[in-house]
Amino acid sequence: MKNAIKVKADRVVGEIDPRIYGHFVENMARCIYDGLLRNERPGKPSGPWKLREEVVGWFRDLKPPVVRWPGGLYADGYNWRDGIGPLEARPMRRNRYWSRYGPATRVMDPNAFGSDEFMRLSRQIGAEPYVNVNLGTGSANEAARWVEYMNGGAETVEGRRRSEYGHELTYGVRTWGIGNEMYGFWALGHMPAEEYARRYLEFVDAMEEVDSDLELVAVGADHYFSNTWNREVLSTAGDRVGLLSIHCYLPGMERIGGVALTRLLKGGPGLYSAIVAAPLEFERRLGEAVQDIKAVMGERAEVRIAFDEWNLWWTPWQVQVPRWTLRDALFACGVFHALHRMSNWVSMANVAQLVNVLGLILTMGDRAVRTAMYYPFVLYSLAGPTRVQSTCECGSFDSPGAGGIPPISSVPYLDVSATLSGDGKALTVFVINRHPGEPVDCSLAIDGFSPAGTVEEHVLDGPSTTALNWFADEKVGITVSRRETGQVTPRCAFPAHSATALVFKKKAPPRKAAKKKATEKPAEE
Ligand code: AHR
Ligand code: AHR
Repeated sequence: MKNAIKVKADRVVGEIDPRIYGHFVENMARCIYDGLLRNERPGKPSGPWKLREEVVGWFRDLKPPVVRWPGGLYADGYNWRDGIGPLEARPMRRNRYWSRYGPATRVMDPNAFGSDEFMRLSRQIGAEPYVNVNLGTGSANEAARWVEYMNGGAETVEGRRRSEYGHELTYGVRTWGIGNEMYGFWALGHMPAEEYARRYLEFVDAMEEVDSDLELVAVGADHYFSNTWNREVLSTAGDRVGLLSIHCYLPGMERIGGVALTRLLKGGPGLYSAIVAAPLEFERRLGEAVQDIKAVMGERAEVRIAFDEWNLWWTPWQVQVPRWTLRDALFACGVFHALHRMSNWVSMANVAQLVNVLGLILTMGDRAVRTAMYYPFVLYSLAGPTRVQSTCECGSFDSPGAGGIPPISSVPYLDVSATLSGDGKALTVFVINRHPGEPVDCSLAIDGFSPAGTVEEHVLDGPSTTALNWFADEKVGITVSRRETGQVTPRCAFPAHSATALVFKKKAPPRKAAKKKATEKPAEE
């Protein structure tokens, strides 16, 4: 098989919204409390709770574009007023959603991380905030007052309150989600699509009365849960929907013949193939949502997708102690390529979640580690906003599927995506090699961009597909090297089970002849 990658850097095929590399923190299990925050007095549920500097630093390092909060399913039981004002006066409550599963998912809610703390974190890490209001058990007025607390000036009641609590300037939160997974029987206040759409409009009216410049996110459903929900919601409320939220976790916590999927497949090559192929299933499912949008709103629809919860999930354990391996990191890289291909429709995506709960970062006691799943986010922070054409000829494999990941035939070993920086001076070519055991040797041709003499090569890899990072023992990570451009084009080898970013810099244009005969005196050194 002749392997060949061709990049046409002057053929723009889409604009990528940087928000596709977004995040999500929910008051669930040990994501916020005991994850992002550490209890300074363990055993005393009211804390004091302090941000873990190490975790915040790692979060900031990812240059996160956006962070969603406070849920998730938690959002539809949350009263934002519990989380403002002096810490010592905030109520200790039962976590209205997650307490149902007991201590594993969090019973008590100390309300020490509310709106002002969330905004402080967003600023510390440089991310845009995305707040999810409570539609399931809350009211439109409650949501509108929350918008006022965040965005209202000192002339408003809630804006004044914010100011009294020490935050004089408005926060200007633009993106707001209205309810979460309302189609699901498991959601607090779940309801039929028609009723959701009606209530959604009430919320939009009330929230926009406070601030007319909001980007609003409506609950959408993956077809696995309902193939009528999206069309019903959009036909009533589509004109007022900015983004349609879609969530997807694969392969799902399925049992086959009474045995958990993971027990059947644990670590085996079948599971590896299924997982690295799973992004193609995300792409297919997102495509179904696009069809819904087009069917109701027309080909020129302005509604876009917020893929605001995505990840792998196959055992309840992963909510406690995710043990992400290199395999899972390659899956996440594949998700970014799928989102690049869908960039005309997907404007935001948020991995679930940042810490502990299926988290990119794992903490235990005082220790913390960046799991394998953290590194795709580092690698893809090298991507530019402009997607340019790339083609790839290579071998392929048939994936057997697992749980919600169907069998997929002819999955290409290599998956390529190429982007240009905003100023057009850097071309990044991303190449995933899904082959579990062999490097792939490949020709690489670049048109429409003259690379400078050296290229930066960033390779995400580890010793094996099941390599994982544990405390003070990181096996999966990124190595960076500088190479001569002639070493990667016209031929390049991509290691087995790896993802590579080749960053080419544009060759400086030749100095203009006019400069030589400049009459001005050269500046002194
Ligand atoms: O991310 C964990 C949970 O999964 C979220 O709360 C919910 O929206 C989803 O079902
Ligand atoms: O650390 C707990 C382990 O992690 C569980 O045994 C397994 O199911 C999970 O992957």
